[in-house]
Amino acid sequence: MLYKSVTLKNGKSASLSWFGRDDIDEVVEVLNSVIHEQKYLLMNQDVDRSDSEKYVDTGDPNGMRYLIARVDGKVAGGATIIPLSNKEAHVAHLAIFLHKNYRNNGLGTILITELIDVARKSGFEIIQLSTFSTNKRAMHVYKKCGFKKCGKLTRDIKYADGTYADRIMLELILTS
Ligand SMILES: CC(C)(COP(=O)(O)OP(=O)(O)OC[C@H]1O[C@@H](n2cnc3c(N)ncnc32)[C@H](O)[C@@H]1OP(=O)(O)O)[C@@H](O)C(=O)NCCC(=O)NCCS
Repeated sequence: MLYKSVTLKNGKSASLSWFGRDDIDEVVEVLNSVIHEQKYLLMNQDVDRSDSEKYVDTGDPNGMRYLIARVDGKVAGGATIIPLSNKEAHVAHLAIFLHKNYRNNGLGTILITELIDVARKSGFEIIQLSTFSTNKRAMHVYKKCGFKKCGKLTRDIKYADGTYADRIMLELILTS
């Protein structure tokens, strides 16, 4: 279901829609392409269709929301807010991935900004996320969107070549 159309820095338009059953195969393919880069995401192994099926967006304002972006009809990436539970039910986690062909054109900033708005309207009080210290672009975008560094896990990430990255925790407090 189309959520909205937006214009990217290169003048192309992207359509944002809630992740539906028909998107699963394409989304899995794009997510796996980012996993294969082995630089940005925690996962080492491919995800499959059944991993992703449970994330189809049901439109429940208190549940998980999953926005995907298409450019020229192709899935460029997706972003989620995932609510926590119990004494953290007021908190949501945010995650995002874009295929490498669709980066640096403003799409990540747009998706994050939209999901912050959705989270705020859904009544979440805090959005949390983590990124690798090596991921300078993600850090720049999160800070631009208002997130603040709130912690660090030293050398939490070890790459296949034996080098490390710290995991940087960021938060955005939505209430004053
Ligand atoms: C991180 C990600 C979501 C950002 O989305 P994007 O569409 O590429 O980013 P945008 O085009 O909206 O913004 C990029 C900004 O970062 C800046 N940037 C690019 N490379 C940079 C770098 N190496 N260091 C610092 N800033 C950088 C750009 O100049 C731009 O800044 P501006 O908006 O102030 O002009 C996207 O690149 C991505 O999915 N990357 C791979 C997966 C990933 O890292 N996911 C997040 C894991 S926590």
